[in-house]
Amino acid sequence: MGRKLLNAKDVSKRYGKKQVLNPSDFYVDAGECVVLCGGNGAGKSTLIRVLTGIEKASTGKVEYQADQSKSYGFMPDHMEFPEELNSLEILNYYRSFIDKRIQRNVGEVLREVGLWEKRDQKVGAFSKGMIQRLNLAQALLADVELYIFDEPTNGLDPFWVMEFKNMVRLLKSKGKTVLLTSHIMRDVVDIADRVVLLFDGRIKADDTLTGLYQTYQSNNLEEVFLKIMDNDLAPPPAREIPEWNGQMAD
Ligand SMILES: Nc1ncnc2c1ncn2[C@@H]1O[C@H](COP(=O)(O)OP(=O)(O)OP(=O)(O)O)[C@@H](O)[C@H]1O
Ligand SMILES: [Mg+2]
Repeated sequence: MGRKLLNAKDVSKRYGKKQVLNPSDFYVDAGECVVLCGGNGAGKSTLIRVLTGIEKASTGKVEYQADQSKSYGFMPDHMEFPEELNSLEILNYYRSFIDKRIQRNVGEVLREVGLWEKRDQKVGAFSKGMIQRLNLAQALLADVELYIFDEPTNGLDPFWVMEFKNMVRLLKSKGKTVLLTSHIMRDVVDIADRVVLLFDGRIKADDTLTGLYQTYQSNNLEEVFLKIMDNDLAPPPAREIPEWNGQMAD
C-alpha cells in the first residue's frame, strides 16, 4: 500500500435536509490514478468539492499530506472565463496566485492543451471544447503532486480525449497523482488504477479493474456497474398480500 496523499474519513454532505453524500471513507494513494464514477447526481462533484475544501463537509475530515506544496491542480466541472480576455492573459492572471516556486511556464501549458496558436484570440470566441481545454490548462499551471479533474473529457473531441489520457499517463510517469471523474467507460478502463463507484451518495465499489472484474465475474466495466446497481435496486422481498375480506377500507 502506498502513501495516502489524500485521506477522507467519514465525510458527508448535506444541503438543508437533503443528504447528498453519506458518511464515506475515501483515499488516494500517491502515484495512482483514481477514477470516480457514477450517474448524474450520484455525488461525484460534491465529493470532489469536499475533498478540495471548496465546500465544507457536514461531517468528517479530509487530510492532504503532500510532500512539497499543500496546493493541488483543480479543474472544476464548469468554468467561466472573462470573454474579453485571451487565454494568455487569463492563464497569466491565474498563475499570479500560484507560489513562485511551483509556477509552470504558461506557454508550455498552452502548448500541452493545443491553445498556443490561439493564445491571442478572445475566449468569448472559443468553442466549448476550447474552453474546456483552457479549464484544463489552468489546473496544470502549478507543478504539484496532485491533480483533480472533474469530468475532464466532457466536450473534448476524440483527439483531445486521447491527448488528455496521454497527459494523465505522463503525469503519472513523473510521479504525480491524479483523481478524476468520468462517465466514459473507455477513459476509465484506459487510465484508472482504481475505480470508485458512487451511487446515490454512497460508495458502492472501490477496487482495481482486475478486482472488480473478478468480484463480478465480468470483464466489461459497464456490466460490472449494472450488476452493482441491480443489487442496489433489487425490489424488497415480496410480501404476502392479505386476503380481501370483502369490505372496503375506510
Ligand atoms: N448547492 C447544492 N444545493 C443543493 N443540492 C445540491 C447542491 N449541489 C449539488 N446538489 C445535489 O447533490 C446531488 C449530487 O450532485 P453532484 O453534482 O455531486 O452529482 P454528480 O455525481 O457530480 O453528477 P453529474 O454526473 O451530473 O456531474 C444532486 O442531487 C444535486 O442536485
Ligand atoms: Mg458532477
